[in-house]
Amino acid sequence: MIELRDVTFRYPRSKNPALMDVSLKIGDGEFVGILGPSGSGKSTLALTLNGIIPNSIRGAFSGEVIVRDPKTGKTFKTTETPVSKLSTLVGLVLQNPESQLFNMTVEDEVAFALENLGLPREEIAERVEWALKVVGLGGLENEFPPNLSGGEKQRLAIASVIAMKPSHLILDEPTSQLDPKGKREVLRVVEELNRAGTTVVMVEHDSRFLFRKADRLVVLNGGRVILQGTPREVAERVEELVEIGVKVPHSLLLSRALGLPPALSPQEFPSRVARRD
Ligand SMILES: Nc1ncnc2c1ncn2[C@@H]1O[C@H](COP(=O)(O)OP(=O)(O)OP(=O)(O)O)[C@@H](O)[C@H]1O
Ligand SMILES: [Mg+2]
Repeated sequence: MIELRDVTFRYPRSKNPALMDVSLKIGDGEFVGILGPSGSGKSTLALTLNGIIPNSIRGAFSGEVIVRDPKTGKTFKTTETPVSKLSTLVGLVLQNPESQLFNMTVEDEVAFALENLGLPREEIAERVEWALKVVGLGGLENEFPPNLSGGEKQRLAIASVIAMKPSHLILDEPTSQLDPKGKREVLRVVEELNRAGTTVVMVEHDSRFLFRKADRLVVLNGGRVILQGTPREVAERVEELVEIGVKVPHSLLLSRALGLPPALSPQEFPSRVARRD
């Protein structure tokens, strides 16, 4: 579980806070999607969830972020916990996988953070094998990142994060630089990790996947949470999303325009039409 209580954060030299009075509870095993227009504070929110804000990226921070380890029940306040400890509880995957990779072999890339944790050799080997298998990169252990496709690089970045066995995984637009195939590969991995019990918080500009797969959507605008609920609840307010500049699924716009109940995906569309008849 991660809980934010009245979190406000302003970057140094910025006039306005990037997050304002954000209170949010993310339950164990939940899949929460974060939506909002550019500059609404999505990335800033992602960085507060694992303590990078305010521990590494400093600024004017108030409120608190509490992370509970589901295995032990222990709670950690991000402002009082080193980022190295938090990273074993809350993994963060960024938009650009290259910013997270060191250009070692695939295997060493995943082992790197584990070596820093001081884990025994056999455990490192086991975890590297497991993480590469989960993301579908088994067999590419000796490859170098420049030889990988965009989707493979992002899956490698995910492997190095999940090798730490974090109970929470935060992803900030992990597919925005990928082609459709890479996108599908990464989304499949995220879905599987969530199904296996990892709590997922995902920021995505293209909301189609989130409307279909998330348990809950949180909509930010101007640093504030302006709307949250199940995808179906949020879909009822599609006009507001469009107005603030959130890209919503076409099926949602079309069902709305036709006066039908919201269709969260094209697959739902026929049943919506049928229901009206
Ligand atoms: N390092 C920084 N220093 C100063 N201001 C920043 C910094 N990073 C972000 N901001 C500002 O904070 C606000 C929120 O930015 P943030 O990057 O969190 O938005 P976002 O929703 O992730 O946007 P995008 O969809 O473009 O990624 C914006 O006004 C942005 O200009
Ligand atoms: Mg962002």
